[in-house]
Amino acid sequence: MTAANARGLDPAADPASSAKRKIIIDCDPGIDDALAIFMALASDKLDVLGITTVAGNVNIDHVTRNALSLVSMTGKQIPVCRGATGPFLSTRKDGARVHGENGVGDVTLQVPAFEEDPRPATVFIREMADAHPGELDLVAIGPLTNIAAVLAMHSGLAKKIRRIIMMGGAAGFGNVTPAAEFNIYADPHAAAAVFQSGIPIDMYGLDVTNRALITKEEMADLRATGKAIPVLCCDMLGTYADFYESIGFSGLALHDPFAMACAIDESLAVFGEYFVAVETQGELTRGKTVVDTFGVSGKKPNTRVAIDLDREGFIAMMSDLLTSYE
Ligand code: RIB
Ligand code: CA
Repeated sequence: MTAANARGLDPAADPASSAKRKIIIDCDPGIDDALAIFMALASDKLDVLGITTVAGNVNIDHVTRNALSLVSMTGKQIPVCRGATGPFLSTRKDGARVHGENGVGDVTLQVPAFEEDPRPATVFIREMADAHPGELDLVAIGPLTNIAAVLAMHSGLAKKIRRIIMMGGAAGFGNVTPAAEFNIYADPHAAAAVFQSGIPIDMYGLDVTNRALITKEEMADLRATGKAIPVLCCDMLGTYADFYESIGFSGLALHDPFAMACAIDESLAVFGEYFVAVETQGELTRGKTVVDTFGVSGKKPNTRVAIDLDREGFIAMMSDLLTSYE
């Protein structure tokens, strides 16, 4: 029995498996967020109810405008709701070094075709959870400030969220500090609250996303299609490539796209079920997801942690979705 079956998340055992999964994408676009958004909006397995933005890679104005532009490029229109301008207690850590000043590799995106939704992110998440109790997945691919905030504001909300699919954390090493991954480090107090919420969590951390690499050859294949969205993705990844080459990677780590691919088809990952908590105090370990791999804490597992991946299957799915746009 896979870990998925054990929690009744096995698609075959899940009555909602024939219907589209209802999701909200909570994100900080962000080059890899951008590809994840394009994938989600192209998938016939997902009903993207809306996007909520959170300051992370770049500031809230940039991430919100980027989200509007990216959705506009697909020809669709869905609610894009502005969220937190920064973390609860720490100062906002910027990701411009990796994602460029505008957050998308300093590539110019098309002017948004529609306005942001007037509802704040927390209002939108609560409204969707109330409208679809037990059916809503939150795909969290940025800092967790919005999600922790809405859970703190509405005590019964956690029970209405089916699961949180997050790109974040690592059982192993970090990428912002030796201990911490960016999304968790950016707001460790919010992350700690989310892991304590009781909501089923699927954690796609650096243990797998640092191996969810796209090669230059695979990027060249995307560009060779000559289609607007795959070519734009390659333009944005170009900036990303410089950073990953500078740290010795043999390809570009597609963190958020891998988490989104697994929201579509979780068979792309192998999971372990572990107790996970977040360090918020340590001078050297602040933002570390502490994963109890050997069960030594005696605490009940609260997270499915992805520990292996089908890279080729991921790249094939992502390419199919990105090239499905005309
Ligand atoms: O550590 C990777 C994560 O941090 C990704 O979500 C990327 O977009 C950045 O936000
Ligand atoms: Ca992100």
